[in-house]
Amino acid sequence: MDGADEDGWSAVAGVWAELWGDFADPARQRVISETGIGPGSRVLDVGCGSGEFLGMLDRLGATPAGIDPAPAMIALARARLPTADIRLGSAEGMPWPAATFDVVTAFNALQFAEDTLDALHEFVRVTAPNGLVAVSNWAEGARNDLNVIETSVALAAGEELRPDGELRQAGGLEELFGDAGLDVISAGLVEVCWEAPNDEVLVRGVLMGEDPDTIAATAATVIDAARPFRIEGGGYRLVNAFRYAIGRTGPQATTPARNSSPSS
Ligand SMILES: C[S@@+](CC[C@H](N)C(=O)[O-])C[C@H]1O[C@@H](n2cnc3c(N)ncnc32)[C@H](O)[C@@H]1O
Repeated sequence: MDGADEDGWSAVAGVWAELWGDFADPARQRVISETGIGPGSRVLDVGCGSGEFLGMLDRLGATPAGIDPAPAMIALARARLPTADIRLGSAEGMPWPAATFDVVTAFNALQFAEDTLDALHEFVRVTAPNGLVAVSNWAEGARNDLNVIETSVALAAGEELRPDGELRQAGGLEELFGDAGLDVISAGLVEVCWEAPNDEVLVRGVLMGEDPDTIAATAATVIDAARPFRIEGGGYRLVNAFRYAIGRTGPQATTPARNSSPSS
């Protein structure tokens, strides 16, 4: 599903949690091991969705907090962790004071911010001095089996193919981190796989958020395009890649106050 619309994400929250909630786990594990998150770490996950990473943090003994603009996502995250600090809101303006967290993360979410640099400045603001910011998102389409299917769907619908956004490309996250004043300490690729046990789940997962007529008209295209990814037993395995970058904040708060004067 595309787009930054919180109503759209709310509408698919249940399907997201069921079919895609664990998808980013390899990237989450990489970020945990490279940031050293552990017992007592104060960690904010931005665009927390249905709260899978918050659950992981809780099991590690960290203190998780989350924020997401989609009310149904927030409801699922709160149901998972009723006592955690989980708030409704967007990356662009977060309701925590400066320097509240040791680590601030976003998985498959920063790209939905209206202005990713503004949003990243906000990540930096709420991160403690010498704290860490970690962002992970889809790599360029050529690395993703899902892209093969999405390309077939787009061509069948007569749509133009969209170029990869900057954050998907090699060096894109690192450049944005530099612009936000973060010192990149680690970056790379992580393999993320998505499996569907049958045609029905494949179609529901790939066409998540589409209306029933579109799903009915497009299901055969999805199944046909997914043929190379069939596995024993009739299911499918799509091998994809996420990029990630981890950056350190400076010794002092680095971000000027937002909207501080009418001329700023
Ligand atoms: C693809 S889901 C990923 C959810 C979760 N991070 C995960 O990896 O499972 C994208 C999430 O970003 C949220 N989102 C969209 N726009 C956002 C914004 N401006 N700030 C923060 N989160 C946003 C959506 O509501 C949705 O929950």
